[in-house]
Amino acid sequence: MNRFEVVAAMLPSADVCAQAARATEEHFAPSNIAVCKYWGKRDAELNLPINPSLSVSLDHLGTRTRVEPIDGPVDDIWLNGLQMRPDTMFAQRLSRYIDLYRQGHPQAFRVETRNNIPTAAGLASSASGFAALTLALNDALQLELEAAALSMLARLGSGSACRSIYSGFVEWHMGHREDGADSHAHPIEAQWPGLAIGLIKVDEGVKSVDSRSGMARTVESCHLYQSWPLQANTDLVKLHQAIDAQDFKLLGSTAEQNALSMHATMIASWPPLVYWQPDSLAAMQKIWALRQQGLELYFTMDAGPNLKLLFLEQDREAVLSHFPDLEIVLPFGS
Ligand code: PMV
Repeated sequence: MNRFEVVAAMLPSADVCAQAARATEEHFAPSNIAVCKYWGKRDAELNLPINPSLSVSLDHLGTRTRVEPIDGPVDDIWLNGLQMRPDTMFAQRLSRYIDLYRQGHPQAFRVETRNNIPTAAGLASSASGFAALTLALNDALQLELEAAALSMLARLGSGSACRSIYSGFVEWHMGHREDGADSHAHPIEAQWPGLAIGLIKVDEGVKSVDSRSGMARTVESCHLYQSWPLQANTDLVKLHQAIDAQDFKLLGSTAEQNALSMHATMIASWPPLVYWQPDSLAAMQKIWALRQQGLELYFTMDAGPNLKLLFLEQDREAVLSHFPDLEIVLPFGS
């Protein structure tokens, strides 16, 4: 099944959608940080994963997007106040996503999108970006879809975007169906006041290998990858235990080992895929040394050089004394 067929089955006809089109207010979706990573697709067309994943949404950090139908032949796309030329990768990716909703109808849209996180720097702006666009299109076309359907649609823009439809802890069930109708995220009820996430920005530039190509390369060329689904499924069980028991040590150690296992599969791919920079490794070594000294501090990393620290609010001052530039988010408040 291709993505157009999947979306056509969920939406009214192209004419009905175009007639309903209206300008929207801004819609917000949070960025999310996976503590059990999504890495590898069983279906690249529908962004269906090989393993389940679990994330924490980043509260106020994310993307705001509004959509408006316009006259004209092409979409008019704005990112952080700058008009994007239609031939840029960014504009093309958004327009291709909107094509799924247009279903061949010529209606064009203005899309104004703003991130308060660096774009494409491994801080998951594509997740919040596609989730916010999905929410805005749902409003613009008056679709009134339920959250699970929105999560499925967001997944077609970027896999991890299916988790950014929700706040708090979110699990993405990998599903088994060919059409992906059972592959969407859902929220985990648990709260964890005082859980802190700190962002270390090693490099905010656009990465050279995006996660789509990185995953494909790993699945095709890395023998270690065979063990990845087992690692992810085992970690998922441990993370549920950690969240249920509010066992921070279990949460942090599982998330860190999960991230390093994913990076091990990247590094052992061919050609090798190393997202780390010298400063990334320096930060890891500092974290390991601090942990030896008794500070409960862990990290996770996505397909980029930046680290996301995991710690408890009670250790905020201690962590800040070692990482003074840290941007701190409390996804569940104090
Ligand atoms: O959603 P994508 O295609 O950008 O993939 C995201 C992959 C990771 O960020 C590395 C892991 C994850 O689960 O977010």
